[in-house]
Amino acid sequence: MRIDVVSIFPSYFDGLTLSLLGKAQDSGLLDLAVHDLRDWTSDRHRTVDDTPYGGGAGMVMKPEPWGLALDQLAGSVAEPVDGSSRPTIVFPSPAGEVFRQSTARELAGREHLIFGCGRYEGIDERVFEEAAGLGEVRLISLGDYVLNGGEVAVMAMVEAIGRLIPGVVGNPESLVEESHEDGLLEYPSYTKPSVWRDREVPPVLLSGNHGAIAAWRREQQLERTRRRRPDLLAD
Ligand code: ADE
Repeated sequence: MRIDVVSIFPSYFDGLTLSLLGKAQDSGLLDLAVHDLRDWTSDRHRTVDDTPYGGGAGMVMKPEPWGLALDQLAGSVAEPVDGSSRPTIVFPSPAGEVFRQSTARELAGREHLIFGCGRYEGIDERVFEEAAGLGEVRLISLGDYVLNGGEVAVMAMVEAIGRLIPGVVGNPESLVEESHEDGLLEYPSYTKPSVWRDREVPPVLLSGNHGAIAAWRREQQLERTRRRRPDLLAD
């Protein structure tokens, strides 16, 4: 999978060279490139923002650098004649659809993702219209709160998507059993020692009875989900 990220703060993404996603890049499973939006400016100050038409607080990101960046990156991956590898262009935005495990799974099946990180009061609206001519455009929110820009949201999305690429997580079974994969929260985990500071591991986990362990874990998942996230059960 190819992922391009465009940002005015590319060094935010240095952390993606670490751990599993770093290894995925070393082994060629993930081809990740981070770009500085200012590389597509042409003025001396490398300007990426300007005041909003109609007035109001803050600045808006100018369309020209975004247009050039997306034109270049959308055309950067060899495309089959049927156009099936048109990129999916994701703009993180608190005004977008909420990012879920199902979104991560869906996007992990794409050949080419481009993430455009907005800052300030956002990106000139015409950029989204223009991007729709280059690929599938998605506005995606990390949750119902406001960040200073899209970078932290994209970090989270790239990690959630990248770990679903086959081969990135060594033991694929660990993907099946985690929170949200079956619509429930994950069951609690324990390791040695079996007693720590007078706290015992639930005896069923030491019983060797696989049926009883599976039933206990399922009950824990349901109980946790009911208590912490009843909205998931309603869904
Ligand atoms: N940019 C600012 N806030 C955001 C959020 N909650 N999700 C995605 N991108 C954002």
